[in-house]
Amino acid sequence: MELKVIDEPVPAPRLLAPRQRMTDLAAALRGLGYDLAACARRLGVLPRLGVNFWPPLHEAWRARPDDAVDTLLALLIDGRPVAAERVAAHLSPARVEALVEMGLAEARGGLLTARVCLFPCGGRYLATDRADRNLAINQVMYLWSESYILGGLVKRSPRRRAVDLGTGSGVHALLASDHAQRVVAVDVNPRALDFARFNAALNGIENVELVRSDLLTAVEGTFDLLVANPPYAPDAAARAGDNFWSGGLDGTDLLRRIVEALPDRLDADGVCHLNALYPNPPGTRTRDHFDRWLGGALDGWEVLDHSWPVPHYTDLLSERPFTGDKSAWRFGVVSLRRAAGGRGRGWWREVAGKGFFFRPDGSCALVADHDAA
Ligand SMILES: C[S@@+](CC[C@H](N)C(=O)[O-])C[C@H]1O[C@@H](n2cnc3c(N)ncnc32)[C@H](O)[C@@H]1O
Repeated sequence: MELKVIDEPVPAPRLLAPRQRMTDLAAALRGLGYDLAACARRLGVLPRLGVNFWPPLHEAWRARPDDAVDTLLALLIDGRPVAAERVAAHLSPARVEALVEMGLAEARGGLLTARVCLFPCGGRYLATDRADRNLAINQVMYLWSESYILGGLVKRSPRRRAVDLGTGSGVHALLASDHAQRVVAVDVNPRALDFARFNAALNGIENVELVRSDLLTAVEGTFDLLVANPPYAPDAAARAGDNFWSGGLDGTDLLRRIVEALPDRLDADGVCHLNALYPNPPGTRTRDHFDRWLGGALDGWEVLDHSWPVPHYTDLLSERPFTGDKSAWRFGVVSLRRAAGGRGRGWWREVAGKGFFFRPDGSCALVADHDAA
């Protein structure tokens, strides 16, 4: 897959007053059936490695003009210009105006073109930057397979306080807002927080606090749910956190810091889910690195490892990606909970491999459930 290059600054979407004009748009999208299962059906991308909208859209897919989901996919994900009349016929002229006022799309010569993407995810809608490579802005990550896999794997049981580290569009914070009393969404990129703020309002969500912070540096207290999809690509051209993909020279700068913080920041009954690339040097295992980061105390943790081998991993984004031996690399979600009984009572279980995450109806077939393991 090639990422096109555009280099114009794109403003973050704008909040509308009254807010009800925003939630009305989300309700209309829901009413038209613009959801993960419908998109996946149209693109034929499930069940597979989550949802990766891009390849099918850039191959032979053609939007059927009379179909609402096709029209929304073409406009809001693929970024094709679509006749404004056609969108209005599905959504209503007032909602097309709202799309333009919010800066989600621009109208020119009877055509509507989206300035950002708007993805369906877990009953919510998430604006992100477009997938075209754009160095004029610090891009807010579009929902990739990993965003859906991580969102699907989290067990949605009641929580006191959740945190989403590297929230980007706000996706994991907004998903947690249903089952956690309070949620903190953290990012270093102010543009990401603007998108997360917009997305919270679009979905009528009010219990998410947005914090600009280098991981947990500016956040106090502990959590009983910690979710993170940190930048993880080994990249010799950018520092960890410069963009949404670079995890520093060996890719683990942010992952390591998150795991090191767990003993202090995760409540005794808390669970942590980490989506990442695990760029293990040859002959090492992910668990060896977690053990080191936890000060040799991994045997005090119960770990569900939903990762799979990626010896041929291709980095589409880094300027100077890693080129060495990737034979031990893995990718996926590792979920940790403190073992009841402490040191010596933990375990590490590899749960599933690539390809088993989603059902054709878009629901996740696997949930990271330590009690059921
Ligand atoms: C891979 S993206 C994940 C976006 C989103 N959570 C998702 O899963 O779709 C990583 C995010 O981490 C943010 N980030 C990078 N360095 C960070 C840091 N030091 N502290 C907090 N957030 C950081 C980036 O700005 C980006 O939004």
